[in-house]
Amino acid sequence: MLTFFFRSSIPLSDDPAIADRVGPPASFSPVDLHMTPSIIQFEQVGKAYPEAGRSHTVLRDVSFAIGAGEVVAILGRSGSGKTTVLNLMAGIDQPTQGRVRVAGEDLGAMSDRERTRFRLQRIGFVYQFFNLIPTLSALENVRLPLELGGASVADADRRAMAELAAVGLADRAASFPDRLSGGEQQRVAIARALVTDPPLILADEPTGNLDPEIGDQVLALLLERSRASGRSLIMVTHSRRIAAAADRVLRVEGHGVVEAQPEPA
Ligand SMILES: Nc1ncnc2c1ncn2[C@@H]1O[C@H](COP(=O)(O)OP(=O)(O)OP(=O)(O)O)[C@@H](O)[C@H]1O
Ligand SMILES: [Mg+2]
Repeated sequence: MLTFFFRSSIPLSDDPAIADRVGPPASFSPVDLHMTPSIIQFEQVGKAYPEAGRSHTVLRDVSFAIGAGEVVAILGRSGSGKTTVLNLMAGIDQPTQGRVRVAGEDLGAMSDRERTRFRLQRIGFVYQFFNLIPTLSALENVRLPLELGGASVADADRRAMAELAAVGLADRAASFPDRLSGGEQQRVAIARALVTDPPLILADEPTGNLDPEIGDQVLALLLERSRASGRSLIMVTHSRRIAAAADRVLRVEGHGVVEAQPEPA
């Protein structure tokens, strides 16, 4: 997750505070999508938050799997635990019971540093409110995950430009987020999520802050960019249109995650 990177010094990978969060260079083996039947496995996962001296249960004994390459919509009423489920998948949050595996790896068995590194390499995250860094240009925002991963500035620039071009924003590379429309900012955020070529994209209400027409365009882009490369895409949404575009719909309710019927288009 990139929300804690808010400085403007470049390259950010040289910043000791950030380098410390990210940890040493990668040592994970590459993911072979054909050898990995499940990209996500929840094994009897429970999640409770302490609240006013008591425990507030959000998830209880939740088990399910998501296959590599699946496009999944997660529905559920406000407060049911959708963001919690996504944050557990990303290793941003830890379960209080059970195990979460991503590409076969047990997130709970990793150190914080390993988890941060794993997330940086394996997971692209798209947020409702874009979460672009306001002091960085579009290009600098997109290349940031590559810089944090230790890529050279020249290589990071080249790949980030290609990703910006793929979302139709090559001509806005030098623009700062406050000069971009909401839809454009979300396209930059999609480019940032995809630039490391992760096998898994997580999106928390990616069109929730856009008007419906722009939201549809952003959704189409996210789907196209995910399906084209066989990535798994998991989207939390309140939108029937998004649910209709998914291969599979899950619903968070009653502290559980249940299979729902795909919405009619
Ligand atoms: N850090 C936290 N500390 C305490 N309680 C939390 C924390 N994060 C979430 N919760 C609680 O967990 C429950 C589920 O929250 P979550 O954000 O996952 O819901 P959601 O389904 O994403 O809702 P929305 O549709 O409004 O985004 C809520 O009751 C919320 O108050
Ligand atoms: Mg939420």
